[in-house]
Amino acid sequence: LVHLLSIEGLPRAVLHHILDTASTFLSVSDREVKKVPLLRGKSVFNLFFENSTRTRTTFEIAAKRLSADVINLDIAKSSASKGESLLDTIANLSAMHADMFVVRHSESGAPYLIAQHCAPHVHVVNAGDGRHAHPTQGLLDMYTIRHYKKDFTKLRVAIVGDIVHSRVARSDIHALTTLGVPEIRAVGPKTLVPGDLREMGVRVCHDMAEGIKDADVIIMLRLQNERMSGAMLPSAGEFFKSYGLTEEKLALAAPDCIVMHPGPINRGVEIDSSVADGQHSVILPQVTFGIAVRMAVMSIIAGNEA
Ligand code: CP
Repeated sequence: LVHLLSIEGLPRAVLHHILDTASTFLSVSDREVKKVPLLRGKSVFNLFFENSTRTRTTFEIAAKRLSADVINLDIAKSSASKGESLLDTIANLSAMHADMFVVRHSESGAPYLIAQHCAPHVHVVNAGDGRHAHPTQGLLDMYTIRHYKKDFTKLRVAIVGDIVHSRVARSDIHALTTLGVPEIRAVGPKTLVPGDLREMGVRVCHDMAEGIKDADVIIMLRLQNERMSGAMLPSAGEFFKSYGLTEEKLALAAPDCIVMHPGPINRGVEIDSSVADGQHSVILPQVTFGIAVRMAVMSIIAGNEA
């Protein structure tokens, strides 16, 4: 693996290798062990052309725990605002001896363009491109599911909300399918759930009760207002009534169901606070696991030989 651009097409063994490697880093991500030298001498450039709290910060923590030098380019204050192109920006950062670019961009495909044009020794990690893919989120979601549920091959997983605009949903569906989850449900209004998911073996449900009934895992998604035109955007109140996860609705799921969300959460829109903060919620453990998973990805693609 030279780059991580998508989960689509990665074999099951590779996904398990990344998750197994992440397990070995838990003691580092939990700070029992301060650092490991796997990226010593390497420069990781965080290029976030779109805002982020969790992904950017956990990539920075992960790279530092691997002993890399981390450079966070402040895009708003960079010369991109003067019209410098993406590829010219990359060429100039490469001239500063970058070894890895971690890229988030509103345009689907931007990390692929960078991977095609950077030097062969440089690695690119997709930290979310448009509505296309968010592979490290998909991997940390799989890590979380495996941590709590152990066996993928007996699970009912419901993904609920704005699926059409969600790169997380797409990455999760590819990963869940590859890992052998027998029942994946996409739950939401017709405007926000693409019908072609059926061709990927996903069960499409427009009724929330049907969609989450007996689910072992519920992945809630936020309304991606920034990717919607006015007509498409449901009112927050209407959406919450039909698809917001409340304790009452959660009672329909399996008794030991876990509730996940990639964040940021919009309380009272897609999820009630009592559920987000409740005993089924694993939303904050997802964030913590993200450090070990991102350490695993970066060390596998760019780690120094032991
Ligand atoms: N889950 C996720 O991508 O969150 P951020 O946008 O805060 O990075």
